Amino acid sequence: MKISIFGLGYVGCVSLACLAENGHNVTGVDVVPHKIDLINKGKATIIEKDIDEILLANWEKGNISATSNYKEAVLNTEISIICVGTPSDVNGHLNLNAIYQTAEQIGAALKEKDGFHIAIIRSTVLPGTNEKIGNIIAEHSGKKRNEGFAVVSNPEFLREGSAVKDYYNPPVTVIGTDSDFASQKISEMYEGINAPIKKTNIEIAELIKYVNNSFHALKVSFANEVGNICKKMNIDSHELMDLFCMDTQLNLSPYYLKPGFAFGGSCLPKDLKAFKTMAHDFYLESPVLNSILDSNESQKNQALNLILNKKSKKVGILGLSFKKGTDDLRYSPVVELAESLLGKGFSVSIYDRNVNISKISGTNKAYIDKHIPHLSELISDDLKKVIEDSETIIISHNVPEFKDVNLRFSNKHFIDLVKVKDIVPSANYEGICW
Ligand SMILES: NC(=O)c1ccc[n+]([C@@H]2O[C@H](COP(=O)([O-])OP(=O)(O)OC[C@H]3O[C@@H](n4cnc5c(N)ncnc54)[C@H](O)[C@@H]3O)[C@@H](O)[C@H]2O)c1
Repeated sequence: MKISIFGLGYVGCVSLACLAENGHNVTGVDVVPHKIDLINKGKATIIEKDIDEILLANWEKGNISATSNYKEAVLNTEISIICVGTPSDVNGHLNLNAIYQTAEQIGAALKEKDGFHIAIIRSTVLPGTNEKIGNIIAEHSGKKRNEGFAVVSNPEFLREGSAVKDYYNPPVTVIGTDSDFASQKISEMYEGINAPIKKTNIEIAELIKYVNNSFHALKVSFANEVGNICKKMNIDSHELMDLFCMDTQLNLSPYYLKPGFAFGGSCLPKDLKAFKTMAHDFYLESPVLNSILDSNESQKNQALNLILNKKSKKVGILGLSFKKGTDDLRYSPVVELAESLLGKGFSVSIYDRNVNISKISGTNKAYIDKHIPHLSELISDDLKKVIEDSETIIISHNVPEFKDVNLRFSNKHFIDLVKVKDIVPSANYEGICW
């Protein structure tokens, strides 16, 4: 394929060399003349392992060139990949000037082009940018989106230092577009890349990179805080974290990464409190660890506010224990939710097939006696009755029993805190964070 690349920095230079290596004919465009000169001499614009050899070999084959003439680049290619910089402005917002300027240039060039053109956004941009770029190209070309051109969001996951290796081995190739033709074409362009291709909607493709990078940053800060605590205790933080990483069931895994309700139970809040308090006793600042419980409280408030906004004062709760499959009510965030609602004068009915009031004992009983002393009057083992007695129903356990309640009781409003498996969303259904 004939491809133009706008922006010859880290992402653009690697894409230029690696796409040429995979058999494409690639033209780079940049606003910095020196970068164009380098490429036209077969030299990379960046320092990266393996890039010099790949670039030179493909330049010698005549598959790599660069120009400042953006029109020529667009007119002679079928795909333009936008890799220009998206720095932060002084307030932390994205500066999209280079992106918009590139879109204007592609649009102006397309005014003179008969064939269909695909613009790929490889730079990291927030949701809404793809649409805006489409509008700019349409305005400057006089063509309609998906008739004369398509815009695709295709985030880059490479890391500097291992950019070539990452380019050829990304975790996944994400293609977000509203054009089937463009989607197919880009899948063909990436033939030879060792990664599954995942087609998704534009907004997800735009946001995924921010979620990835925020999580990577969180991991670094978390590990550093653990390291600081370890050092104070003369514990080998690297040996400890190596062990931590061996747990691929709960630590490095999809577990605990499903948006939903707050955590609770007798272990997570207690152990987190003990750990962060110990750090505090060492006079260590541990802002990540310290903020976790605050975040958890915010999620409880999120659920409470959803219910309060419904105005209905009759609430049903499906699932009271801190998670499904147990009768442990200690530090269940659902108990706290029920307690808050009762305190605000709501009528609350509860269904939980595992909670048998007569059998609750020990610290479990002490906890519930303190928070909902008259639970026996509120709880029932009749699911239908609990729903019929309520107007807003909270689903807090992910069990098959609840998967069609919203369809069976279409005159009730359901708020799902757990994204029940196989539930079919309906007009009377909403998720806490989906
Ligand atoms: N560097 C990384 O590791 C990495 C990884 C993944 C994604 N990204 C994202 O990719 C994008 C590019 O990052 P980078 O590190 O390659 O940036 P960079 O600053 O190294 O390169 C950007 C290039 O764009 C050029 N440019 C600016 N305006 C232009 C225009 N109007 N027309 C043509 N060229 C223009 C600049 O001269 C520069 O050469 C950013 O959005 C970044 O967040 C970067």
